Amino acid sequence: LTEVVTIPVVFHVVYNTSSENISDEQILSQLQILNNDFRRLNADTVNTPSYFQPYAADTRVEFCLAAIDPNGDPTTGITRTQTSKTSFSYIKDEVKSDSEGGVDNWDPTQYLNVWICNISNNILGYATFPGAPANTDGVVIHYNAVGSPPANRYEWSYNLGRTATHEIGHWLGLNHIWGAGSTCNDSDEIEDTPNQLEESVDCPEGIVVSCDNEPYGNMYQNFMDYTNDACMNMFTQGQAAYINAVVNSSRNSVIN
Ligand code: ARG
Ligand code: ZN
Ligand code: CA
Repeated sequence: LTEVVTIPVVFHVVYNTSSENISDEQILSQLQILNNDFRRLNADTVNTPSYFQPYAADTRVEFCLAAIDPNGDPTTGITRTQTSKTSFSYIKDEVKSDSEGGVDNWDPTQYLNVWICNISNNILGYATFPGAPANTDGVVIHYNAVGSPPANRYEWSYNLGRTATHEIGHWLGLNHIWGAGSTCNDSDEIEDTPNQLEESVDCPEGIVVSCDNEPYGNMYQNFMDYTNDACMNMFTQGQAAYINAVVNSSRNSVIN
């Protein structure tokens, strides 16, 4: 990308209890986090170690609330739907369907759909990759993991809105930084992320070597690892190039 592109987002809040019906302010805090993280304007870029700073990237992708709905009418970019379902299964993907107690997505060639609901089994979020069936296309985030405090209830581990940063990374084609399995033979197919054995959890300290990735070790500061929100602060140049390729091909319609 030579220029910055903007992806219109519709947030579908699907709630049973009033606490699941999170506020507009909470959603706007999430939007700001996405725009900071994808443009490398996040306040914690200083936590990227000096040896990884040269790899850190501005992806040149931004997000805005959708302004026009699929019927051509003005919208806030936030839909709110009360449901009788008390939680939603990741396996069944029910939140994406009117007939299952959720909400059908808006045309995914025109919008990034983000559902916010009570996902069962302690799942923070999940995403489709480019090329998924149109009716499942989008990202789902647990209502407790949206945006930054005060209403985000995931205490310190997942309270900075990085679940959505990570999931939208998948939606734009990025794999987990360690690859598909816990071996050194699989990878994320990104050249400048160090080959890494498996996911990092919590927040490691210092250099953690795996798969002969000396001298700097695992890039557990990357948004596509599994560390805590406060531990992650970067995409790489290679990931940004990959995202740009996706935005120029399979996801191109969403920016036009
Ligand atoms: N487990 C989820 C996934 O694989 C989300 C991980 C989010 N991590 C975070 N620090 N918020 O897509
Ligand atoms: Zn993931
Ligand atoms: Ca890699």
